[in-house]
Amino acid sequence: MMYDIKIERTKTPKQKPDQNHLGFGQYFTDHMFIMDYTEGKGWHDARIVPYAPLELDPASMVFHYGQAIFEGLKAYKTKEGRILLFRPEKNMNRVNISNDRLCMPQIDVELGIHAIKTLVNVDKDWIPEAEGTSLYIRPFFIATDPFLGVKPSSTYKFIIILSPVGAYYAEGLNPVKIYVEDYYVRAVRGGIGFAKAAANYAASIKAQMDAKKKGYSQVLWLDGVERKYVEEVGTMNVFFKINGEVITPSLEGKSILPGVTRDSVIEMLKSWGMKVTERKISIDEVYDAHSNGTLEEVFGTGTAAVISPVGELNWKDNPIIINDGKIGVVSQKLYDELTGIQTGKIEDKFGWVTEVK
Ligand code: COI
Repeated sequence: MMYDIKIERTKTPKQKPDQNHLGFGQYFTDHMFIMDYTEGKGWHDARIVPYAPLELDPASMVFHYGQAIFEGLKAYKTKEGRILLFRPEKNMNRVNISNDRLCMPQIDVELGIHAIKTLVNVDKDWIPEAEGTSLYIRPFFIATDPFLGVKPSSTYKFIIILSPVGAYYAEGLNPVKIYVEDYYVRAVRGGIGFAKAAANYAASIKAQMDAKKKGYSQVLWLDGVERKYVEEVGTMNVFFKINGEVITPSLEGKSILPGVTRDSVIEMLKSWGMKVTERKISIDEVYDAHSNGTLEEVFGTGTAAVISPVGELNWKDNPIIINDGKIGVVSQKLYDELTGIQTGKIEDKFGWVTEVK
C-alpha cells in the first residue's frame, strides 16, 4: 500500500551542530513528521513540515492522564554514504503493543516505517558521520482530545522528530556506576512496564536523581513485589556474565521493556556459540557470584546506550567493582559487532539493517 506524505520544506534551515560535541538529544533537525488520528476516520493527513513548536489545547488529554508512548531508533550513514536503519519493524511492532496497553490506536507497521524513512531522507544531511554518532529517531504518540474525564481519547497525533546524537552517557564506552534501587520500583506485574509509556520514565526520575546525588549514573531496578529479582536499568536492559554464561532477566512477568538491542544481543551471543539464558536472576545471586569470583561482566543494552559496560554496582551501601572497573571482552565484542552492522562496516548476516533510499 502506498502512503502519501505531503512535504513542506523549511525556508530557514538551521545551523548544524559540531559533530564532535553532540551529547544526546539536544539538537533537532529541520523537519518533523505529523499525522492525525480521529475515531471513525483512522490515521490521516500524513505530513512533513518544518520543525516547530506544537499548538495544543491545554485540556489535551495527554497533559492530564499521560496517554503517551514513544520509540527510539537510529539512522546511520555508511562510509559509502548509504543510510541504514536498524530493525525499524521491531520498533513499530512495539508501538502497537504499547498503544494497545494504553488504549491508543494501532498503526500500520509499514506506514510507520515509510514515515521514518521519508523524514530521514528529507533531513539526511543531518546524519552525523563522526565515530560513535548517529541520527536518533524519536516517534511518539499523544492523546489530543480536549477533555477532562478519564477515558481513552478519540483523537491522537503520531509525531516523529530527529536528533543528531553522540553517546548517551558522558562516560561513552567507559563503564558506568549503577545504584541498585531497593525502595522505589519501576513496574509491577499487570502494570505498564513492558510498554514504552512515557509514564514509566516519569516514575523513574526520582530514583535516578537520588542515585545521581550519590555519584551513580542510573539505577538498577528490582522487581516490584519482593525487591529481589533484577529487572532493568534506567534506560537499558541488563546482562550478567557469570562463569561463562550470559544471563538476562526474562520478559515473562511483563514488567520489563522488550528491548530491540536486548533481542539483538541475545541472537548475536547465540550465533557465537555462547550460552545465553533468559531467566529470573536475583540481586543476591549477582552478589554471590561477585563474592566467589564468577561475576565476569555486567553490561546494559539499549538503542540510546548501545552497549554500556557496568563497572560498579551498589546495593544497600555495599559497592562491588566488576572486572576491575574495565570494559569486558564480551561487552567490547558486542559493541564492535553491533555498531559494525549498524554502520555497514560488518556484513549483516542477520538481515537487521534496512536501507533508506
Ligand atoms: C532508547 O534507548 O532509545 C530509549 O528510548 C531510552 C531513552 C529513555 C533515552
